[in-house]
Amino acid sequence: MKGRELVILWTLVGTLFFGSLDAQLQAGFYAASCPNADSIVRATVIAGMQASQIVGPSVLRLFAHDCFVNGCDASIMLVDPVGNVEKNAGDNQSLQQLAFDTINQAKLALEQACPGIVSCADIIAMAAEVVVNQMRGPSWSVLQGRRDGLTSQATGVAGHLPGAHMDLPALQAVFGNIGLGVQDIVALSGAHSVGFSHCIEFTDRLYSFNGVPGATDPSLSPGYATTLQGICPNGNFNPTTLQPLDPVTAAQFDNVYFQRLQIGQGLLFSDQILFVDNTTTGLVTTYANNEAQFFNDFVNSMIAMGNAGVLTGSQGEVRLNCSVVNAVVSSPPAPVVPPPTTTPTPVPVPPTVPTPAAPGPAAPVPPVVDLTPPAPVVIPTPTVPTGPTVAPQPFVSSPPPPAGTS
Ligand SMILES: *[C@@H]1O[C@H](CO)[C@@H](O)[C@H](O)[C@H]1NC(C)=O
Ligand SMILES: *[C@@H]1O[C@H](CO)[C@@H](O)[C@H](O)[C@H]1NC(C)=O
Ligand SMILES: *[C@@H]1O[C@H](CO)[C@@H](O)[C@H](O)[C@H]1NC(C)=O
Repeated sequence: MKGRELVILWTLVGTLFFGSLDAQLQAGFYAASCPNADSIVRATVIAGMQASQIVGPSVLRLFAHDCFVNGCDASIMLVDPVGNVEKNAGDNQSLQQLAFDTINQAKLALEQACPGIVSCADIIAMAAEVVVNQMRGPSWSVLQGRRDGLTSQATGVAGHLPGAHMDLPALQAVFGNIGLGVQDIVALSGAHSVGFSHCIEFTDRLYSFNGVPGATDPSLSPGYATTLQGICPNGNFNPTTLQPLDPVTAAQFDNVYFQRLQIGQGLLFSDQILFVDNTTTGLVTTYANNEAQFFNDFVNSMIAMGNAGVLTGSQGEVRLNCSVVNAVVSSPPAPVVPPPTTTPTPVPVPPTVPTPAAPGPAAPVPPVVDLTPPAPVVIPTPTVPTGPTVAPQPFVSSPPPPAGTS
């Protein structure tokens, strides 16, 4: 709550004193530098959603995963040949490659329109808004100006994501990590108005609740339990089966999710607990009865979540390819040893590097070069014999940034 108030306050202040604050997100951040940024993201996401119904919910989930782990810095997008990044951590079951593809496609289009300007972290936040809006939910002005992080670690994920088996205190702990409270938990859970889950996430509620063989979760309506048992047979379910979190209006962002909690038809334990735990019963009832209130609170909570641990100003970088950190070519520092008698040619860039997305002149980042095709992110690049130092970004082994949100 505090975080949300701060966001709103800072937005206001930032509007009044534009330019005097460099560390806050703002609406219309790309109005001058990339005027079509919003429409490019919108068009790409809509095309993705038309191609597959799982794209929308998956993009929404991608945004949450990114923000809950190490802040909204697109660290979830980084790939790594040895799999030591957030994307590969055990909790990634709910992430769909199609969501990553959609963000990467938006990035590709943006790099053509305005190279080196729009961060991947902002693309994810903007894409999430498009999804909600396209599924007939609310729309809002997305605050922008996030920069992309330089690190991503698989080990940073455990304990930071909301889980399907969490009770309210456990949810409060993970949401609290990024400054979110009880109202945010309930409002953001409303995103389960759309999307799907796998049998593995809820079969214990059907067959072995609390570890008791044969026990069914008493908070689950018996009729719905029977339906779900048919979809996910005990010990014999299809691991790829996708069960809608709200099967009544699965493709529509609305408050039916909350109405289903009132009749014991929440799919996950972490859904139903919002109605069972009397700390949040009232909020569930409010949202079930008043969709406008749900939309209003959901937007505020999305903005608050989107502010978690963001990098701004000169922190991080604007990645040229969301999957890898930029390779930095630093000019050599003032020489500490006498120059050699034979003069090596200080060629800054290998001549053969293709630059499909060369940084534009207006890029507000240090000089970068897109080493796209080779770019091994973990294995250090073989030393270049002459010329300036090529410093590979050791994003896997470096410690996480000191942002205190995760
Ligand atoms: C999830 O992690 C596994 C194991 O590292 C990996 O094989 C898979 O590609 C990841 N899923 C996504 C969508 O990245
Ligand atoms: C909430 O539930 C707890 C037990 O789970 C109970 O002790 C408490 O009295 C309840 N509070 C209200 C206001 O119903
Ligand atoms: C981005 O980087 C990934 C990983 O190195 C690579 O597979 C992909 O082709 C790159 N995308 C572009 C557009 O260069």
